[in-house]
Amino acid sequence: MSQLDFIREIAKYGLENDQEKLLAALTELIEHSKKTKKINFAIQLQSLLKDAIKHQQTSGLVKVGSPKHFLREEDKEVNEFIIEKLTSDYAFENLVCSEPVRRELKFFIQEHNSTELLNKFSLPVSNKVIFHGPSGCGKTLAAYVLAGELEKMMIVVNLGAIVSSKLGETSKNLAKIFRKASLEDTIIFIDEFDSLGKIRDYSQDHGEMKRVVNTILQLFDYLPQSSVVIAATNHLEMIDDALLRRFDLRLKFDLPDEAHIQEIIDKTLKSNTFQFDDPKKLPALRKKCIGLSYYSIQKSLITSIKRSIFDNAENLIALKPKIDTKLWSSLIDEEKKSISKK
Ligand SMILES: Nc1ncnc2c1ncn2[C@@H]1O[C@H](COP(=O)(O)OP(=O)(O)OP(=O)(O)O)[C@@H](O)[C@H]1O
Ligand SMILES: [Mg+2]
Repeated sequence: MSQLDFIREIAKYGLENDQEKLLAALTELIEHSKKTKKINFAIQLQSLLKDAIKHQQTSGLVKVGSPKHFLREEDKEVNEFIIEKLTSDYAFENLVCSEPVRRELKFFIQEHNSTELLNKFSLPVSNKVIFHGPSGCGKTLAAYVLAGELEKMMIVVNLGAIVSSKLGETSKNLAKIFRKASLEDTIIFIDEFDSLGKIRDYSQDHGEMKRVVNTILQLFDYLPQSSVVIAATNHLEMIDDALLRRFDLRLKFDLPDEAHIQEIIDKTLKSNTFQFDDPKKLPALRKKCIGLSYYSIQKSLITSIKRSIFDNAENLIALKPKIDTKLWSSLIDEEKKSISKK
């Protein structure tokens, strides 16, 4: 059946008020969309369907019988901790990083695309990577790049939320998330990986932290080769050594040096759509950015582009707005002040 056939069926059952057949047709359309690589559309439909079912259950309108796999208790619980389930359009060209980091990321992808070859020689496939380094330097972005390059769905899990909300159940919830990810063949991205350390502060039970770490060690040890786990942290030093050893790859995302500052400027200027009013000042501005994260540099530059456009709205010749370098310079100062206060 084509997408149009499904839509015709859905319209028919909707108008006839036949809930059961409507849900069945919608489920089929979701499956069809997944198969035809309309993943985002499938996720949107899936979430519409889940919301509707939740609503009907609470309002008692409909006895819910189908479709079964959307109603599993486990799915509902696990979804509380998954911030997002997404597909990513990000690719290597979106990320500025050092050559060694880029090379390692490329090998990681190559390993995944060559599992058969590696299996032939009984060689393990690297599938656990941890990104660390200061805030705003591309850890989350790199996870999106991996998901985009591997063309896999990714579930984003906030470990901080799991640990703080249901402490006693952290192990159980993590196991469920790993199970869900391997069934659905998605990447697991665990942000705030250092939150495990907080268990010591939250828990009265001193064995709790050990139990959670042991669970993760087991989950890692039995992770199917086709699965991928990406963890990110600003505090590598807070992570248990036994856990750290389990990662196949440890990559540091640093603050940008002058060359990388130029790269993030170039990316932000979008292949010369925008230009500086006084290009001679650029070397000094680059130096001034040292110490700031990619995020802060990009944010201040985008703000100055927008304000320069507003200031020159009347005489934008050929749509090549000139960026007010003085304005950007003062915004860099503000960014620097804000980090020195932290
Ligand atoms: N290395 C980079 N290359 C290109 N853009 C970057 C880079 N680092 C950061 N950015 C820009 O800053 C934004 C925020 O970066 P990101 O979320 O990846 O930082 P992070 O390292 O995960 O920070 P945090 O530790 O606070 O979570 C990105 O979406 C991107 O626009
Ligand atoms: Mg991040």
